[in-house]
Amino acid sequence: MSYLTIAMGKGRTAKQAMNFLEQSGIKFPDFHEKSRKLVFIDSTERVKLIFVKAVDVPTYVENGAADIGIVGKDTIMEDPADVYEMLDLGIGKCKLAVAGFPDKQFTNSAPLTVASKYPAIAKEYFERNGIRTKTIKLNGSVELAPLIGMSDVIVDIVETGTTLKENGLVVLQDIADVSARLIVNKASFATKTNQIQQFILDLRAVLE
Ligand code: PRP
Repeated sequence: MSYLTIAMGKGRTAKQAMNFLEQSGIKFPDFHEKSRKLVFIDSTERVKLIFVKAVDVPTYVENGAADIGIVGKDTIMEDPADVYEMLDLGIGKCKLAVAGFPDKQFTNSAPLTVASKYPAIAKEYFERNGIRTKTIKLNGSVELAPLIGMSDVIVDIVETGTTLKENGLVVLQDIADVSARLIVNKASFATKTNQIQQFILDLRAVLE
């Protein structure tokens, strides 16, 4: 039997995702949190885990380099891939929100400047709400943008709210709830149906 290859982001939900896999009976003896290794084989030699940059997980799955991916709904929303989204794993819970200074008013007199790691989500959200925007793409430390006057607001992930609070910002509007999802390559689902269905059943058992 060939391996099921799972792509997972190296970010903050990796530890929760590894615990989740372990509870479903898939263990990676060589894995430890500080490891720099990128490929792990499980103890039954059925699953190969590859660690990739979180935003690239859908790309690996869409192109068949991985059969399965574990990735945040935020990444899926920002850049939808041609894959099956099969399961909400209920881990990595946070939300996408518009944030800024507490007194920020939204008027349409001039375009609202929005800094974000999620320009597509930001554009779609404000368009839907009839607000003209100019979007500035950033790759991190997004909360800095309003502080230095580069943007009026940000669209970003809020988990504990600590980063906003420590920078004097607040959530102005909620956009969407986010959690980690299981995505599956379409061709793999056709050719490795039993393996993938069993894998999903084992994960569902943990969820229940
Ligand atoms: C994310 C996000 C926020 C922060 C929210 O950034 O972009 O900045 O976490 O988390 P909190 O509500 O628990 O404070 P990340 O830590 O990934 O770093 P980055 O700024 O380099 O993207």
